[in-house]
Amino acid sequence: MPVRINTPISIAIIQKEHEDLSRVIEGMLYLVRAIQDGAAPPDLCLFRAMLYYITEYPERVHHPKEDQYLFSRIKERTHQLDTELDALSEQHSKGELLAHGLQHALLRYEFGGIDAFPHLHRLVEQYAHFYFAHMRVEEERIIPVAKQILTEADWKTIDTAFLENQKMIDATGQRYHYEHLLSLIIDIAPQQTESGNLMI
Ligand SMILES: [Fe+2]
Ligand SMILES: [Fe+2]
Repeated sequence: MPVRINTPISIAIIQKEHEDLSRVIEGMLYLVRAIQDGAAPPDLCLFRAMLYYITEYPERVHHPKEDQYLFSRIKERTHQLDTELDALSEQHSKGELLAHGLQHALLRYEFGGIDAFPHLHRLVEQYAHFYFAHMRVEEERIIPVAKQILTEADWKTIDTAFLENQKMIDATGQRYHYEHLLSLIIDIAPQQTESGNLMI
């Protein structure tokens, strides 16, 4: 069995994209919990930026590439992960629906008022739980097996596909600047001071 000594670049990119998605989800969690506690006025512009990032990048770029390149190659080499991979692919579709549900819940809160907040809060908590579990399975169950069974030729194809993502976030290109949007979110995301007060 081919065992990679070095981590393929595609795996490093997937892990970095998971970190970025986690930071955005944690930001959304922090925001709804702060609103719930009455600790901050709702920053809906920031919330919209977070949702926009999620629907434009992880949902449209990250997940489809996992399905199309990583999962399909693993299935060609082994059937031991078929059940897990099918469940993860289903979760990719479900994630898109959940993100749309979040957008709708945000609009209802924005235009319907405080009565719509508990629903939004509940959806954000569910979304966070759903995606943290999803990424954990990919990193702890799928990637270790992939490293053991995929060939150099497989990794070449997968690496090429995921390296394209980096071009998409290249600030010198003509493409949409996801990286810029992400740093904007991180820059303006609320942070807690030592005294526990919020800074925005
Ligand atoms: Fe995934
Ligand atoms: Fe992923």
